[in-house]
Amino acid sequence: MPMVTVTRRLKFNAAHRVHNPAFSDEENSRTFGKCNNAYGHGHNYTLDVSVAGEVDPNTGYVFDLSRLKELVTREVVDAVDHHNLNIDVPFMRDVIPTAENMIVQFWRILEGKIAPGRLVRLVLWETENNYVEYDGR
Ligand code: NI
Repeated sequence: MPMVTVTRRLKFNAAHRVHNPAFSDEENSRTFGKCNNAYGHGHNYTLDVSVAGEVDPNTGYVFDLSRLKELVTREVVDAVDHHNLNIDVPFMRDVIPTAENMIVQFWRILEGKIAPGRLVRLVLWETENNYVEYDGR
Protein backbone atom coordinates (compact mmCIF):
# COMPACT_ATOMS: atom_id res chain seq x y z
CA MET A 1 0.00 0.00 0.00
CA PRO A 2 1.29 3.47 -0.78
CA MET A 3 2.29 5.54 2.25
CA VAL A 4 1.17 9.16 2.03
CA THR A 5 1.92 12.08 4.35
CA VAL A 6 -0.88 14.58 5.04
CA THR A 7 -0.46 17.91 6.82
CA ARG A 8 -2.78 20.22 8.70
CA ARG A 9 -1.78 23.83 9.41
CA LEU A 10 -2.96 25.56 12.57
CA LYS A 11 -2.33 29.06 13.86
CA PHE A 12 -2.15 30.52 17.32
CA ASN A 13 -0.58 33.42 19.11
CA ALA A 14 1.24 33.46 22.38
CA ALA A 15 3.50 35.62 24.49
CA HIS A 16 6.86 34.71 25.89
CA ARG A 17 10.06 35.96 27.38
CA VAL A 18 13.17 34.03 26.39
CA HIS A 19 14.92 33.86 29.72
CA ASN A 20 17.04 31.38 31.63
CA PRO A 21 16.55 31.83 35.37
CA ALA A 22 19.95 30.21 35.94
CA PHE A 23 21.67 33.09 34.10
CA SER A 24 22.43 36.51 35.55
CA ASP A 25 20.51 39.48 34.12
CA GLU A 26 23.60 40.38 32.07
CA GLU A 27 23.98 36.86 30.68
CA ASN A 28 20.29 36.74 29.79
CA SER A 29 20.49 40.07 28.03
CA ARG A 30 23.69 39.14 26.19
CA THR A 31 22.37 35.71 25.14
CA PHE A 32 18.79 36.52 24.19
CA GLY A 33 18.88 40.25 23.32
CA LYS A 34 15.47 41.79 22.70
CA CYS A 35 13.80 38.41 23.29
CA ASN A 36 14.75 38.80 26.96
CA ASN A 37 12.82 42.06 27.44
CA ALA A 38 11.38 41.96 30.93
CA TYR A 39 7.72 42.24 29.95
CA GLY A 40 7.82 39.74 27.10
CA HIS A 41 6.48 39.97 23.57
CA GLY A 42 4.15 38.02 21.32
CA HIS A 43 4.32 35.93 18.17
CA ASN A 44 1.81 34.70 15.63
CA TYR A 45 2.79 31.05 15.37
CA THR A 46 2.01 28.61 12.58
CA LEU A 47 2.13 24.88 13.32
CA ASP A 48 2.18 22.25 10.56
CA VAL A 49 1.31 18.74 11.77
CA SER A 50 2.15 15.87 9.40
CA VAL A 51 0.78 12.34 9.67
CA ALA A 52 1.90 9.45 7.46
CA GLY A 53 -0.01 6.28 6.76
CA GLU A 54 -1.72 4.10 4.24
CA VAL A 55 -4.65 5.46 2.27
CA ASP A 56 -7.85 3.92 3.64
CA PRO A 57 -9.62 2.41 0.61
CA ASN A 58 -13.00 3.15 2.18
CA THR A 59 -12.44 6.88 2.62
CA GLY A 60 -9.47 7.71 0.40
CA TYR A 61 -7.96 9.38 3.47
CA VAL A 62 -4.79 8.75 5.47
CA PHE A 63 -6.25 10.76 8.35
CA ASP A 64 -9.31 12.98 8.26
CA LEU A 65 -7.74 16.45 8.38
CA SER A 66 -10.72 18.04 10.10
CA ARG A 67 -10.37 15.43 12.84
CA LEU A 68 -6.63 16.17 12.99
CA LYS A 69 -7.42 19.86 13.37
CA GLU A 70 -9.80 19.11 16.24
CA LEU A 71 -7.30 16.84 17.98
CA VAL A 72 -4.38 19.29 17.73
CA THR A 73 -6.60 22.20 18.74
CA ARG A 74 -7.81 20.34 21.83
CA GLU A 75 -4.44 18.92 22.88
CA VAL A 76 -2.03 21.74 22.01
CA VAL A 77 -3.47 24.93 20.51
CA ASP A 78 -6.07 25.58 23.20
CA ALA A 79 -3.33 25.30 25.83
CA VAL A 80 -1.07 27.92 24.25
CA ASP A 81 -3.32 30.24 22.22
CA HIS A 82 -3.49 33.71 23.81
CA HIS A 83 -1.44 32.49 26.75
CA ASN A 84 1.89 33.46 28.22
CA LEU A 85 4.25 30.54 27.68
CA ASN A 86 6.37 31.45 30.71
CA ILE A 87 3.50 31.59 33.13
CA ASP A 88 0.27 29.83 32.28
CA VAL A 89 1.08 26.84 30.08
CA PRO A 90 1.75 23.89 32.40
CA PHE A 91 3.78 21.80 29.93
CA MET A 92 6.12 24.76 29.21
CA ARG A 93 6.78 25.59 32.83
CA ASP A 94 10.17 23.91 33.15
CA VAL A 95 11.67 24.85 29.79
CA ILE A 96 12.85 28.07 28.15
CA PRO A 97 9.96 28.95 25.80
CA THR A 98 11.83 28.89 22.51
CA ALA A 99 10.26 27.40 19.39
CA GLU A 100 12.69 24.48 19.78
CA ASN A 101 11.40 23.61 23.22
CA MET A 102 7.79 24.23 22.22
CA ILE A 103 7.95 21.81 19.30
CA VAL A 104 9.45 19.01 21.42
CA GLN A 105 6.71 19.45 24.01
CA PHE A 106 4.05 19.48 21.28
CA TRP A 107 5.48 16.23 19.91
CA ARG A 108 5.37 14.53 23.29
CA ILE A 109 1.73 15.48 23.71
CA LEU A 110 0.59 14.46 20.23
CA GLU A 111 2.73 11.42 19.42
CA GLY A 112 0.65 8.80 21.23
CA LYS A 113 -2.69 10.28 20.21
CA ILE A 114 -2.43 9.94 16.42
CA ALA A 115 -4.10 6.85 14.96
CA PRO A 116 -4.51 5.63 12.32
CA GLY A 117 -1.23 6.78 10.86
CA ARG A 118 1.82 8.06 12.62
CA LEU A 119 3.00 11.53 13.54
CA VAL A 120 6.07 12.06 11.34
CA ARG A 121 6.82 15.77 11.38
CA LEU A 122 6.02 19.00 13.14
CA VAL A 123 7.03 22.39 11.79
CA LEU A 124 6.61 25.46 13.96
CA TRP A 125 6.95 28.91 12.45
CA GLU A 126 7.69 31.66 14.97
CA THR A 127 8.01 34.39 12.34
CA GLU A 128 7.73 34.27 8.58
CA ASN A 129 11.50 33.87 8.43
CA ASN A 130 12.19 31.53 11.36
CA TYR A 131 10.91 28.01 11.78
CA VAL A 132 11.92 24.81 13.56
CA GLU A 133 11.06 21.24 12.66
CA TYR A 134 11.04 18.00 14.61
CA ASP A 135 10.49 14.37 13.70
CA GLY A 136 10.74 12.80 17.14
CA ARG A 137 14.43 11.90 17.20
NI1 NI B 1 10.10 35.77 20.74
